[in-house]
Amino acid sequence: MNTLTTYDGTIERTLYRDDEIAAAIERLGGDIARDFSGQPLLLLGVLKGALYVVTDLARAIAAHPNGPSETVVDYMCVSSYGNATRSSGEVRLLKDTSETVTGRNVVIVEDIVDNGLTLEYLHALMAERNPASLRSCVLFDKPYHRKVDVPVEYVGLICPDAFVVGYGLDYQELFRNLPYLAELQPWVFAA
Ligand code: PRP
Repeated sequence: MNTLTTYDGTIERTLYRDDEIAAAIERLGGDIARDFSGQPLLLLGVLKGALYVVTDLARAIAAHPNGPSETVVDYMCVSSYGNATRSSGEVRLLKDTSETVTGRNVVIVEDIVDNGLTLEYLHALMAERNPASLRSCVLFDKPYHRKVDVPVEYVGLICPDAFVVGYGLDYQELFRNLPYLAELQPWVFAA
């Protein structure tokens, strides 16, 4: 159960400001727009964490005049952390894609890659469906505890080795709506 009633006094430090995140997404959008210039694109956002990055990324791609011929946004929902602070490695598929993946140019969009097990699971699941191409885009890369070598073609920002929240990332479902990436004060975990 969540016992916090306010975010006041919970943030240790800001790791990336909202304008730094916006600049990173702008860059990712440009890279993806150029790589899929003139081709149809399917962006697959992985909920809940990617709820902001996939919508901002889709609009960043649209800002480029020579981008994809069409961009379709779809969502999957998986859970691997539950309410723990580190991924269990057991990925549960809570919602599959609505769109057909076969024959499409697919970019999986994640908020963060940490041990890599979630992205590896999603990549394998999508690869089975024979997309025309399959790439991954991750806003925050936390490379310190990788358990599997999963390819990530588009990386936004390197994330410090801390438990981070904000811009879609949560602690016990809270803090997702912070517009910046932050480290929590240790007392929050002990509460
Ligand atoms: C987070 C995040 C990634 C995954 C990355 O999801 O959104 O999907 O963990 O961790 P990994 O690389 O160590 O596997 P979480 O399970 O917390 O669900 P959420 O997106 O609903 O917050």
